[in-house]
Amino acid sequence: MARIITITSGKGGVGKTSISLNLSLALAAEGFRVCLFDADLGLANVNILTGIYPKKDLESVISGQLSLNDILIRDYQGIDIIPGSSGVEKLADLTRTETGTLISAFLDLDAYDFFIFDTSAGISAQVLSFCMASHEIILVVTTEPTSLTDAYSMLKVLSKYGYDCSIKVIVNQVTEGKTAQKSYARLKQTVSRFLSAKIEPLGIIASDKNVRASVISQTPFFILFPGTVASRCISAIAEKLIKNQRKTMDLPLEFFWDNCLTFLEKHHHRKDEKAKEKETTKPNTDILEKISQMESKLTLLIKEVGDIRQFLETHVVMTAKKEEPACPEPEEIVLDFESWLNTKKG
Ligand SMILES: Nc1ncnc2c1ncn2[C@@H]1O[C@H](COP(=O)(O)OP(=O)(O)OP(=O)(O)O)[C@@H](O)[C@H]1O
Ligand SMILES: [Mg+2]
Repeated sequence: MARIITITSGKGGVGKTSISLNLSLALAAEGFRVCLFDADLGLANVNILTGIYPKKDLESVISGQLSLNDILIRDYQGIDIIPGSSGVEKLADLTRTETGTLISAFLDLDAYDFFIFDTSAGISAQVLSFCMASHEIILVVTTEPTSLTDAYSMLKVLSKYGYDCSIKVIVNQVTEGKTAQKSYARLKQTVSRFLSAKIEPLGIIASDKNVRASVISQTPFFILFPGTVASRCISAIAEKLIKNQRKTMDLPLEFFWDNCLTFLEKHHHRKDEKAKEKETTKPNTDILEKISQMESKLTLLIKEVGDIRQFLETHVVMTAKKEEPACPEPEEIVLDFESWLNTKKG
């Protein structure tokens, strides 16, 4: 039976995908069989960090066209990856037959030690259903106040639905150990005071420029820079997870999916009724939520493009300096992000 861990956050862009991928690799490096489930519907997901762009995803499994084995990306640096993508969005609207198809597809896939779910940002029904069905949740925060308040909102919703396993917190992008400790302590204090959810610290990950450099190379930092500080933090977290005595039993995958889909079914219906009530007076909150999620993804992407531009500009300027003393103006460098992405895909 696999240990099922859902990696989540309140705020977007705090490092869920980077942590999911690199933590999976660190666990695999310790000899564990790991499957990473990409449940992120957005742009900045596992595809971008690995440079793998699968043609088929979970949707083909749900519709019965393909088996899980057909879509499984095998042995990417020692881990297997399931591309959830559009299939995850479909989970909320499954028919009974499709639910059966999905659950039985996972019956064949129990030969893993760890199943890691990387989720999208925000408190959507899909994200909550993965969290509620897992016995282990890793909540990623940064020291930014907005990240902490959004994490608190996530914990509040999990408390509301009666989540009763302890939630492990990682403070990411840390520049000062003391600030990280203070941020965690403040979150812990507020949670203990007002919520039924229980949190415990799992570790911190330093802010490391090699993390961004690895995004540009589309190779995980744990592989590209094994000795860098972020990789060492990830190793320490993996070690702690391995040593961590679980108070709950491992969950068979089919039970996980059953819990997940049952939660989704209930929650989705409730949402539908609410939406119907509001339809005549207010704009659809689902669409507004999606737009705001897309906005945060775009902001991140623009930031990435800026980083890549800066990286290339510095690189090209430095190369040009070596070859010809007359250095070209940096303004002359035109970066076509789309073509760059396409060359990476090819
Ligand atoms: N420890 C770190 N040091 C420096 N940069 C980091 C670190 N962790 C993550 N980042 C950077 O932060 C950005 C967002 O990371 P990532 O995509 O993993 O976040 P996410 O929580 O999965 O985002 P989303 O909510 O959009 O899914 C990336 O550019 C990544 O390189
Ligand atoms: Mg992500």
